[in-house]
Amino acid sequence: MPQLSDTTRGRILFGGDYNPEQWPEETWTEDARLMRDAGVNSVTLGVFSWARLEPEPGEREFGWLDRLMDLMHGNGIGVVLATPTSSPPPWLGRLHPETLPRDADGRIEWWGGRQHFSHSSAVYRHHAAAITEALAARYADHPALTMWHINNEYCTFDYGDEAAVAFRRWLRAKYGTLDALNSAWGTAFWSQGYDTWDGVLPPRHAHYLNNPTHVLDFKRFTSDMLLECYTAERDIVRRYTPHIPVTTNFMPLWVGQDGWRWSEEEDVVSVDLYPDPRDPLGAQSAALVQDLTRSQAHGPWMLMEQAAGPVNWRGVNHPKPRGLNRLWSLQAVARGADAVCYFQWRQSRQGAEKFHSGMLSHAGERGRTFQEVKQLGAELARIGEEVTGSHITSDIAILHDWNAWWAGAQDGRLSTEVEYPEVLRAWHRALWESHLATDFAHPEHDLSAYKLVVVPQLYLLTDTAIDNLLAYVRAGGTLVSGFLAGIADEDDRVRSGGMDARLRELFAIRTLHEWWPLDAGETAECEGFRGTLWSEEIEPEDDNVDEVIPYKGGELDGLPAVLRRGRSWYVSTLPEPHALRALLARVADGAGVRPVLAGAPLGVEAVRRGEVLFLLNHGREPVTVELPDAHRDLLTDETVEGELTLGRYGVAVLRP
Ligand code: GAL
Repeated sequence: MPQLSDTTRGRILFGGDYNPEQWPEETWTEDARLMRDAGVNSVTLGVFSWARLEPEPGEREFGWLDRLMDLMHGNGIGVVLATPTSSPPPWLGRLHPETLPRDADGRIEWWGGRQHFSHSSAVYRHHAAAITEALAARYADHPALTMWHINNEYCTFDYGDEAAVAFRRWLRAKYGTLDALNSAWGTAFWSQGYDTWDGVLPPRHAHYLNNPTHVLDFKRFTSDMLLECYTAERDIVRRYTPHIPVTTNFMPLWVGQDGWRWSEEEDVVSVDLYPDPRDPLGAQSAALVQDLTRSQAHGPWMLMEQAAGPVNWRGVNHPKPRGLNRLWSLQAVARGADAVCYFQWRQSRQGAEKFHSGMLSHAGERGRTFQEVKQLGAELARIGEEVTGSHITSDIAILHDWNAWWAGAQDGRLSTEVEYPEVLRAWHRALWESHLATDFAHPEHDLSAYKLVVVPQLYLLTDTAIDNLLAYVRAGGTLVSGFLAGIADEDDRVRSGGMDARLRELFAIRTLHEWWPLDAGETAECEGFRGTLWSEEIEPEDDNVDEVIPYKGGELDGLPAVLRRGRSWYVSTLPEPHALRALLARVADGAGVRPVLAGAPLGVEAVRRGEVLFLLNHGREPVTVELPDAHRDLLTDETVEGELTLGRYGVAVLRP
């Protein structure tokens, strides 16, 4: 299978989405000059070019793209060529309205924006395959072609009629009989029993709460259907260019795709990442996505999109202060990226994203954004050879599963304050701030390489996953679990006792009497810290429990907030950040896991990638870091020993 290294060849890919059809051809020549100036070596062409390539059904206009491919090649810039299938031309919707998706209320998502395609529409798929085939046939041998980029940020749900037929087909394949479906969905409740397959619909707008297993299966189905669209196009391009890697760009922790399944179908795993420059924890939420993407890729990955300055889709969109774009780009490299790319090269003057930044902003060549991009391009070129292809080793795995998220997010849950991504973030943050390197893993993955496994929240766990966790602990691993773990089976049936019996035994929980969710801003006093979001009324197995940190005061006074049996820890609340950090640092230490750089100050991120140690100062004040050995800074080519001072947003890329 082709890999990212086939495209990078020892360089970090640097560049971005290039949408030159918005500009007269004179601008293209200037673009090429400025790209060279900035060290750009890769652009993504064609993401939204369907109407330009096929202005009328079956017609093809490739001349402009031929000239661009040649221009890029002539300037030493590789092309990640996109299939344009995420934004069909208006004629497709006009001539074939069934290609347009419908929302849960039955409203059509019309053309005029983008991503207005039904994953289940045979007509859409037919036209998408045809334009993909035409592109693959035309550019298979073009020397500029370095990678295929299929569609863009797959994300459409469809509740329409053709999707309903496909959903039924999917359900039949899964359940075989209606009886099995009725049983899995628990349709005996509220008189929902189905007597014919034709009665089964997508979970459209209903009077009151939809059946949660129905909704869960619809999410699984949507992920699978979008994946079918992806693999259909991937297989076409692969037929023409088996040696060229294929990717599609994920959105960070987006709810609609089962990322573990999807990444198995890609040669290169890529992600789009837009942390808010004003978010004090922006770097940490980026680190989480980077760790997850690297784990999906089992190695180097591609940062397909980020913003050089502001985005334009938040309420208030802030620019990146001087140095932040460089810092966050090098952070991605530190955490395994071999490609640092942007949406988009040149800021648009028209259309919906003209206030979204580009590498070349409205201010042009002299603008700060471009000047910083240029500096970054030079620095990436300097470190590329030393870092590309290298891996990060971690003794800790955080477990994450989209199915658990989907199931736990149901409308009838006990607390809407509990948001899965936020809980994941809180646990990752505790490890990140302790300078502990973390991978992500699926609960059914082989965990034997890890000394510590962390379960922030896995409301739904399959029997296989539970067996896996038990086997992991039996073999000597240390496990820490947050609340809402192992509550439901894969059909979202609550396990008897309210939590899987084997897990209760593992954590020495005799009875889980009640869940006690906390209101927004409410805390639960515990010995030595405060809990947030959630608390639980647990009766421990006194003979088996090795350690308890109790709740103090209130209804739960004296009951365990945290309990440990042997190497298994259960945390029934979300400790406030410093307390969770201290707890996890202690557990990690006990499991023999060492921080990347002991004593590194809070706010400095330390990551070891291969032999190279990255130090990143996320603060605006200079900080001093103690280094145990002498290193060479690959960015400055200077030797550093003893103390190293990192300026505002400063970065050092150190080789022993
Ligand atoms: C991504 C998308 C790009 C652009 C960007 C703006 O979601 O793939 O095309 O819209 O966001 O932030």
